[in-house]
Amino acid sequence: MKLSLEEKERLESIYQSYLNNEKILKMNEVSMHRGSNTYLHSFRVAKLAIKRALRRKKYLDLESILIASILHDYYLYDWRKDKSKKKHHAKKHPFIASSNAKRDFDISDKVCEIIEEHMWPFNFKCFPNTKEARIVNNADNTVAFKEVLTSIKHKKKRMNKYMDKIQTLF
Ligand SMILES: [Fe+2]
Ligand SMILES: [Fe+2]
Repeated sequence: MKLSLEEKERLESIYQSYLNNEKILKMNEVSMHRGSNTYLHSFRVAKLAIKRALRRKKYLDLESILIASILHDYYLYDWRKDKSKKKHHAKKHPFIASSNAKRDFDISDKVCEIIEEHMWPFNFKCFPNTKEARIVNNADNTVAFKEVLTSIKHKKKRMNKYMDKIQTLF
């Protein structure tokens, strides 16, 4: 997909509005795989999902991909600290994230669906039904896999590097 300058600027401005949003910044407090957190993780997923979508020839709804990627793990609790949330976290959190996102942001049903379908195949019954949902699902799996594999040894250095990289979408 080729984007006009105007389309590129529009996506970048959506990205920036979430990156600096007070509610989204709260995701920094929710830890994730190997020293990452849901804020860093989600913006990494967003960047990768958009990069992969742009490689495709067919039309894709980039705005939905972008917003759903940013909000896909917007569940806002730390199951590592609150053990009562640990049970069925993998299956439940896409629905909690989608309902939090609907409460806090003006998002479409399509974005909610992409969020709810992002845990396939762990959540086997929720297959990603659209091309957009499959792109987000794949990007999430790739980023999560990389985060799990990364050594915890140089955590701080790595976090700073990730932080630099997510400052802009393009
Ligand atoms: Fe997730
Ligand atoms: Fe994720």
